[in-house]
Amino acid sequence: MPDYHYPSHSIYQGDALDVLPNIPDASIDLIFADPPYNIGKRFGDSHDRWPSEEAYLDWCYQWLMLCVNKLSPTGSFYLMASTQAMPALDLFLRRHLQILSRIVWTYDSSGVQARRHFGSLYEPILFCVKDKKNYLFNAEEIKVPARTGAERQLIDYRKDPPQVYSSTKVPGNVWEFSRVRYRMPEYQEHPSQKPQALLERIIRASSNPGQTVLDPFAGSFTTAAVAQKLDRQSISIERESTYVQAGLKRLGYEGCEP
Ligand SMILES: C[S@@+](CC[C@H](N)C(=O)[O-])C[C@H]1O[C@@H](n2cnc3c(N)ncnc32)[C@H](O)[C@@H]1O
Repeated sequence: MPDYHYPSHSIYQGDALDVLPNIPDASIDLIFADPPYNIGKRFGDSHDRWPSEEAYLDWCYQWLMLCVNKLSPTGSFYLMASTQAMPALDLFLRRHLQILSRIVWTYDSSGVQARRHFGSLYEPILFCVKDKKNYLFNAEEIKVPARTGAERQLIDYRKDPPQVYSSTKVPGNVWEFSRVRYRMPEYQEHPSQKPQALLERIIRASSNPGQTVLDPFAGSFTTAAVAQKLDRQSISIERESTYVQAGLKRLGYEGCEP
């Protein structure tokens, strides 16, 4: 399987379980993992469905352990998974990392509306670190407007001397970003492309320019594209050659000698 190495960005076409062991341990500042969810989606030539839930979870535990080993001592790991699988993955990961936030990415309604149950409008994300006493978190980089008295310049009299409420805050753990839809400028032909805005928050918060972000299931290469925009380095792994080719194009490397 081919690898593509450019000065700040590397792409491995292959199986995450084969490629991850070749990455040096403790060398990665930030990992974002968005694996197949075992819900029957078609990714290029393969089908996202394991024979049983146990088989799927066993597979996840293998690459999760590899990811844990690749994280630097101050590194952060963000994991996305289906609402069904996340409880088991949460139980597994908390034995190896410290989970600091259980984030809900919520979005506007999907095309198919549930009629006899409450349709799912969110996906869970875990934010974990190796060491909760020593990890990077660039709070200033990701602040959002605070819906407090700040807008009306209300004064907080509990402070001495009294101060106007802060007009910005670190976002809470419910994140609202719209899904990537056909015709949006960032749209790529991939069935589970994540929004750039979501990755931008993660990469800004948990890495500095020049540091390395790893995505073991690159898909449409959102992580690498945002890393490139924010001057981070990236390592991407993706099994399907069609997505790798599209990723090379997205990163501006189409036709460039690695
Ligand atoms: C949920 S998608 C990732 C979407 C990505 N976060 C994005 O924004 O486009 C999962 C991706 O993992 C790839 N994949 C599935 N099994 C893999 C494996 N064993 N090793 C590497 N990639 C794999 C699939 O082809 C698919 O593109």
